[in-house]
Formats: sequence, C-alpha cells, structure tokens
Amino acid sequence: MAINAREERETPMPASAPHPARIAAIRRRLLDWWRRDGRDLPWRRRRTPYRVWVAEMMLQQTQVETVRPYFARWLRRFPSFRALAAARQDEVLKCWEGLGYYSRARNMHAAARTVVHELGGRLPRTTAELRTLPGIGPYTAGAIASIAFGADEPVLDGNVIRVLCRLLAIRRNPSDARVRKSLWQLAGRLVPPGEAGPFNEALMDLGATICTPRRPDCRNCPLRTICDARAKGLQEQLPVKTRRKATPHYDVVVAVIIKGGRVLIDRRNDAGLLGGLWEFPGGKIEPGESPVQAVRREVREEIGIEVAPRSKPFITVSHAYSHFRITLQAFRCRHVRGRARAIGPAAVRWVDADKLTTYAFPRANQKVLRALQTLLSDRSSSAGESGKPEIA
Ligand code: ADE
Repeated sequence: MAINAREERETPMPASAPHPARIAAIRRRLLDWWRRDGRDLPWRRRRTPYRVWVAEMMLQQTQVETVRPYFARWLRRFPSFRALAAARQDEVLKCWEGLGYYSRARNMHAAARTVVHELGGRLPRTTAELRTLPGIGPYTAGAIASIAFGADEPVLDGNVIRVLCRLLAIRRNPSDARVRKSLWQLAGRLVPPGEAGPFNEALMDLGATICTPRRPDCRNCPLRTICDARAKGLQEQLPVKTRRKATPHYDVVVAVIIKGGRVLIDRRNDAGLLGGLWEFPGGKIEPGESPVQAVRREVREEIGIEVAPRSKPFITVSHAYSHFRITLQAFRCRHVRGRARAIGPAAVRWVDADKLTTYAFPRANQKVLRALQTLLSDRSSSAGESGKPEIA
C-alpha cells in the first residue's frame, strides 16, 4: 500500500509525545537489545572526548565500514587535539584522502587549533558550545554531548529518522523543516535521563542493522511488537521519500605536464568541493569544444601556460562522487611556453614524479596517478644515467 501525496499532507505529526508507558517500553527494549547486540566499534572501546569527536566527524555521511581503517590511521597519526593542531593542512588532508567531504578534515584541523589555543585543550561539553566549533551541527553536537559527556541530548540523522517514522508510522516528509523539528522534539522526549549515550547509539545501530532502508529485518527487531508501521504493513513505505534529482555527469580533462622528471600539479582553493586537495590542472569540457582544446584552454586559464597535449588521453577514468559523476580523460602534455602561476588555484608546484603520492588527491585522480607511475617506471627502465625518467 503506497502513501499518496494527499494522505501525506493530511497526516498530522503526532501532536503529543507517545504515552509514558510506550516511551518506557521503547527505552527498555532498545537499551536491553543494545547491551546484548550493539555493535563493537573501535571508537566505542575507549571513549575519550577526542576519540568520540573524531569518530562522529568521520561518520558524518559515511558508513561505519568505510570509517574503520581511517579512524585507526588517524589516531595513530594524530593521537590528540594537540598533535592535530600542530600538523600542516597538507598532512591532515593526506590522512583523509579518499574519505570524501574534505571540508570535514579542514574543519577538524581548525577546531583542534581552537580547542588547543583557546579552550585549554578541552572539548566543550554542551551542545551549544560544541556547535560553535567548525564542522559540528546539531547531530554531531548531540552525539558528542551524549556519548562523550553523558548529557541528556537527542540525535537525529537518517537512521534515527527512519526508526522514528516507522515506530510511530509518521507519514510526513522528514525533509520538510517543520516535520524535522517535530522529530527532534520527539527524539528528545524519548531519551532516557542519564542514558542518552547508550540510547542514541542503540537507535543508530538499530537503523543501521535492522531497521534498514530496504527490507528491514522486522523479525529480529526489539521494537517489533510496538512498531506502528509494522502493525500497518507500512515499514517499506516509510519514511516518506523525496524523489531524487538525477545525478549530474561531467566530462573533464586534465593535463599531465612532465618536465625533467617533475610533474606540474595545483592545489584547489579551500572553499568548495574537494577544497585544499591537489590535482592535475584541468576542468570541464565546454559545449562545442574538443577534449584537446579543453586541455589547452583550462591550463591557460588556470595556470597561465601554453601546453601541447597529445591527441589521445593515456587513461580515461569514470568515477562517481557523492553528488555527481565524472568521466576524466588525462592527457600527457608538453610544456610549450610560460611560467606556471596560480591564477585560479590556491598554489601550483612542480613535484618530483616519485613524490606525487605524498600529496592528497581526489579519488578520481588515484587511477590517473597509478597509470602515470606505470608509464614513468616503463620509461625509467630505459632512462639515461641520471636515473630520471626522460619524458618531455
Ligand atoms: N553514525 C554516526 N555516529 C555513530 C556512532 N557513534 N556509532 C555508529 N554509527 C554512527
């Protein structure tokens, strides 16, 4: 039974909180289940404010399994606010490379500096103070305050929304700001005083492992006998979804300019997508332009030099980022004239080919880098006495 638009509009949010007996049942069942079946995750083993903050920042829009190796590596590399605050931005981005949404890494770096230089090395304890730090919104503030400091604060993200909308059969679209506000209030009423951290983590785990977006595992759900959606057979229809826009696709070219064994790369501006990362100069192909024309134009516009691209790319890569897809063609280019300068990007640099992997690049560039290393090592086996690859 699908939910139609009229039904959705006309269904009110629950005006009042669930009955106290129902709240008590939800709390008890969820907490009992979580103590028995909650996930054993690295950041739950030793809960210092720093570890909780790192985990919550990494888990923003990112799956637990993706985060695991990054969390371990990050803690080895930056074991404290102080270590993170003392690092260079390039090192921080390198450690984040591949995790996506890079503003999170830049925000963490800035927040660590604030914590160390202005807050005596301690993370604030309240949601209001936490939210003054870069990268911390209502969800992350609630998660840190409850999990690290035991504050009675709720959380609300996609997983929690799904659980609540099903549990109370809420047939309203949670992307509507008013509905979202009511859901925050509801989550706040459900939080058991003194046990907000475990309760919030139980909601997160239930949403991730049982109350999943498709084919929820209702038979193993601790709330199955008190779930309104299940009683009405609506569990697969809720929460009400907004139709997604098609993901845009871009055709992109990049120039791999090699001279005397060094490669020219540039750094993206901090603001915006993939900000602060290094890349090969290039950009989108404009309508009516050939790929080779696009390479010449982009290189001229971005870094002010003239290049002669080869007629064919040495590799073509397709990659899906979170909000768009690209097909990227990488062209070997000869430097014709001009001195590279950062017109569009934040910086340009000639880098020894064997040092390229010490720089943080966006995901789609990894395959280009690997193809380039193969190309260069093939060439260097026929290199002259200098041992430098002899590529124009
Ligand atoms: N997603 C966001 N925060 C989380 C946490 N603390 N545990 C598991 N998944 C999460």
